[in-house]
Amino acid sequence: MTLTVKEAGLALADPKAYADDRRFHESLALLRRESPVHLVEAPDYNPFWAITRHEDVLEIERNHQIFLNAPRPLLATKELDRLNRERAEQGIALRTLIHMDDPDHRVIRAIGADWFRPRAMRALEPRVKELAKRYVDRMADLGGECDFAREIAVHFPLYVILSLLGLPESDFDRMLKLTQELFGGDDDEFQRGTTNEEKLQVLLDFFAYFQGLTEARRKNPTDDLASAIANARVDGEPLNDFDTASYYVIIATAGHDTTSATISGGLHALIENPGQRERLRDRPELMPFAVDEMIRWVTPVKEFMRTAAEDYELRGVTIREGESVLLSYPSANRDEDVFDDPFRFDVGRDPNRHLAFGFGVHYCLGAALARIEVRAFFEELLPRLRSIELAGAPENIATTFVGGLKHLPIRYSLD
Ligand code: HEM
Repeated sequence: MTLTVKEAGLALADPKAYADDRRFHESLALLRRESPVHLVEAPDYNPFWAITRHEDVLEIERNHQIFLNAPRPLLATKELDRLNRERAEQGIALRTLIHMDDPDHRVIRAIGADWFRPRAMRALEPRVKELAKRYVDRMADLGGECDFAREIAVHFPLYVILSLLGLPESDFDRMLKLTQELFGGDDDEFQRGTTNEEKLQVLLDFFAYFQGLTEARRKNPTDDLASAIANARVDGEPLNDFDTASYYVIIATAGHDTTSATISGGLHALIENPGQRERLRDRPELMPFAVDEMIRWVTPVKEFMRTAAEDYELRGVTIREGESVLLSYPSANRDEDVFDDPFRFDVGRDPNRHLAFGFGVHYCLGAALARIEVRAFFEELLPRLRSIELAGAPENIATTFVGGLKHLPIRYSLD
């Protein structure tokens, strides 16, 4: 069946379409070719312009004074857009870095940026490696067969980020459930409830948990990230409870599903491309390139949005003040104009100018940490891996935001 440009555009507003890799990328390729600045009018969503070329995503991210994150940083249904607006007016909406623009964004980002700077991250490497070993050992304990996405990949990055935040291990299961309910919201398998009240409750549960943490760290500061956030000062004043809780929420959520999706998708790519797997095992110095190729290949963050503060012309199309654009990172990362043979998984790809971490003032704060985690995991796994194959069909999560494999059944033997 031939795909039309209109259908291709509508796929960007359909969580289920994101779960079908082949069809999804077919839609994106068509849009890149025939309508790179494309108006999508889907029944359940406010209209938006889909931006699918690498060059255009970059141009919009560079122009951050015109293309703002507020008030619509992410694709949500009309109903949720309305609810978010109402909550913002009542002062009970999540207000994280991705919801902010300058001048607030710069000030609030600096609190985390200091903690996440690459040198500080490198100091964390031994701890991350220890955790990677723990999870590869767990694979060995599982006896040669597991659902890698559910049993390994989902836990390792959460474990890393929660231990950096300074949360006790006894709370990790609760955090796992909450992050999945918050992020996997479009996928039936992870939904707590369908009503807006139930969705709001997930957010309130998060806030209640982190409010307790703030109080504890203000009373007894330690050297963890939670203490840095709880005791940060802006113009001599501490952050209010809402901004503090929002900070934890963005770190706990942004730092988790993204990296686990990359590790699952990266392993899947290595299974499907045994030649590349052998090449990487024989030439471990390729690992930094392989890590970025896995991140490009998976592109776990499917979109962020911006809203125009004034009229702007892109490729002859006028985006009017107040209209929103959707930056399609998976599409930018398969752009034929930028990547040589973009549908080839190449562990030695160089250059690799992928946009999976975004670009510019909102560039992913956790990029250095994410790279360390992915690298630590595969550096531990590959030398011990004797054989590996699929033990069933992999399945993607149905979501328009952070996605990747939700099931990856594998059979393997490990030293
Ligand atoms: C922002 C991707 C891992 C924390 C972002 C953005 C993307 C992204 C696309 C938006 C950038 C933009 O708007 O230009 C990813 C990917 C990851 C990953 C692909 C893993 C492979 C992490 C980790 C953390 C983290 C491990 C923290 C522990 C953040 C934060 C922001 C962000 C705090 C907001 C930055 C801002 O708005 O100023 N990430 N991320 N991310 N990420 Fe990540």
